[in-house]
Amino acid sequence: MITSEKLSYFLRRFDRLSNYYRYNPFTRWVGASELGVMRDLLPPPAQHGETSALDFGCGTGRITKLLLKAGYCVTGYDLSPGMVKQARAAIGERKDVRFTSDPEAASGPWALIVALGVLDYYPDSVALWREWRQLIQTGGTLLVTAPNVHSPLAWIYTMLSRFTCQAYAVTFENLAASAWMAGFTPFDVRFAFPRRWWGHTVVMALRAD
Ligand SMILES: C[S@@+](CC[C@H](N)C(=O)[O-])C[C@H]1O[C@@H](n2cnc3c(N)ncnc32)[C@H](O)[C@@H]1O
Repeated sequence: MITSEKLSYFLRRFDRLSNYYRYNPFTRWVGASELGVMRDLLPPPAQHGETSALDFGCGTGRITKLLLKAGYCVTGYDLSPGMVKQARAAIGERKDVRFTSDPEAASGPWALIVALGVLDYYPDSVALWREWRQLIQTGGTLLVTAPNVHSPLAWIYTMLSRFTCQAYAVTFENLAASAWMAGFTPFDVRFAFPRRWWGHTVVMALRAD
């Protein structure tokens, strides 16, 4: 279970970061590479402009933009109201997008869930995987990222993250084990920044069983 103490800790941390999150150069460089890999893994929507997707932990809306461009109808959900405010300001009013901090509004079932840079903060991610399994349709696709334990760049990132919000690196095997326990089957694994096994980020695509 993700305790309410933990969630309010994240809320405080990310609210504080929200005003300048998108200007962080490290986030931008790594993010550009991650978004490229995500773009390659993104399934096309079953119905353009109608199939709904959840951007879980949407932050300032980087992935939301990508999902809208691909033709999804998107809900961006983040527990930090500050992040949600920034995402709204960045994307503006559109009928195919809404942003929320309300977990009720994020309840699915979703055909696609994308969580970029969320697992980073969960050394024990079992509860998060269970939550995603409850939110997604059977047969739906989940795309997630996490810092790669085999990457020296990810070690630097996790070391520096203590000044913002502590992040943890993982192995692909660890991620896959948690995913299987929650009812997901991984079907693709890639790396970003750079696109090598020692790249900063593991990007995993999974199907909900
Ligand atoms: C590093 S930011 C990534 C933001 C965005 N996905 C991006 O890549 O730019 C992680 C975000 O996940 C959110 N988050 C973490 N745990 C969450 C949870 N359990 N529910 C909703 N949002 C969460 C945080 O508030 C934060 O805004």
